[in-house]
Amino acid sequence: MNESAARVDRELQMLTRLCRADEVPEKGVKQVAPPNLDAEYAVYHLDGEFYCSDDLCTHGLTSLSYGEVDDGQIFCPMHGGAFFLKTGKPSAQPCRLPLKMYRVEVIDGELFADLG
Ligand code: FES
Repeated sequence: MNESAARVDRELQMLTRLCRADEVPEKGVKQVAPPNLDAEYAVYHLDGEFYCSDDLCTHGLTSLSYGEVDDGQIFCPMHGGAFFLKTGKPSAQPCRLPLKMYRVEVIDGELFADLG
């Protein structure tokens, strides 16, 4: 195995499978709970791109996967706060702390993220 292939192999080993890409509707969000991890994540599909964040809103203990994706943001179902999907930065009060985001890789129609 050459150095480049070894690097790709190491990167793949660090990734966690989230779900199939076609399980996340365009302009939608899906909650995923990878086995062996004690946390849920929210996976978003927006304009052909996929994003992943912690599922819990940083304002309270509410699942963002029950919120709505609109105008490039996820709106929390509890108090209407929001975050930009591309950065995780808060975009509407009362959210003030950024949302932890994870880079998503699409491999053969499956979504993976480095959740470490
Ligand atoms: S819990 Fe999300 S905005 Fe308050």
